[in-house]
Amino acid sequence: MRILNASGCLDALTAPDIARVLDAFVSKTVTPLPREGNAPVRIAETDVGMLNSIGLANPGRDAFLAETLPRLRGLGVPVWVSVGGFAAHEYAETCAQLADVTIELNLSCPNVDEAADSAAAIVAACREVTSLPLYAKLSPANWDISEVARAVQAAGADGLSLVNTMRGTALGESLEPRLGTWSGGLSGPALKPVALAAVYACWRATRMPILGMGGVMSGRDVLEFIAAGAQDVALGTVLFRDPEAPQRVRSELAAEAAALGVADVDDVRGVAHEGGVASRLSLTR
Ligand SMILES: Cc1cc2nc3c(=O)[nH]c(=O)nc-3n(C[C@H](O)[C@H](O)[C@H](O)COP(=O)(O)O)c2cc1C
Repeated sequence: MRILNASGCLDALTAPDIARVLDAFVSKTVTPLPREGNAPVRIAETDVGMLNSIGLANPGRDAFLAETLPRLRGLGVPVWVSVGGFAAHEYAETCAQLADVTIELNLSCPNVDEAADSAAAIVAACREVTSLPLYAKLSPANWDISEVARAVQAAGADGLSLVNTMRGTALGESLEPRLGTWSGGLSGPALKPVALAAVYACWRATRMPILGMGGVMSGRDVLEFIAAGAQDVALGTVLFRDPEAPQRVRSELAAEAAALGVADVDDVRGVAHEGGVASRLSLTR
């Protein structure tokens, strides 16, 4: 079980000490051309989580490869590159230029208007041009996410990143939309039950390695994602509130596992599918 950051939730170059305590660092999504992102306001806090409408602001592929990536490698932790685009060939062109990283295909950004090709078509195009590990990051805004998971597995994905944000809106004092784009991606605690359902459904359907995320705030949350089927877990919104979350969550995780009589956190993987820890332990005793 590894703890990573969720894409876009940590700037490793301005906070290298936080990035170095992660088991791997995931970059912000990189698109072929530079993007300014959406008009402000781009972040709004709500009672149950955060809304963002960053809109994939990034320096573009060429600058990322020439400047950002070499600096990220200098952190000394494995690097995952989050790849975005607006057509399958755009994703594939970026993948073809990458070496010695894990690739996370952002198939799910809610803050951009352009329509993308289908998730499976994008994965297939990328699979043709790279043998690097390919994770498909999916949107939870779909009742049966496991169908998409099966399709990207058949197209050659090695793993799944679950989940990206869901569309939400918040209104201000005089009932005006608080975000410049009126809606944005909802992240944080409100997303956790949605994310757990996605991990549960996709693990049951595919048994693929899953990087679980969505509202993880504590060690207990991590344990629940692993029980639902995640192999690894990413911290997103919590990093804005508590930059020391990686260490805190790790120590809480050890205590939570011990309290359940679990020696190794990896032993909990998928246990929710078998009625929980108590019923698995009673079968093995
Ligand atoms: C400010 C912000 C920026 C984000 N940028 C990206 C991004 O560039 N690419 C991506 O795949 N996900 C992006 N996400 C989504 C997160 O990676 C993650 O999937 C989501 O926030 C759910 O996790 P959380 O509830 O722990 O934050 C962003 C989220 C936030 C809050």
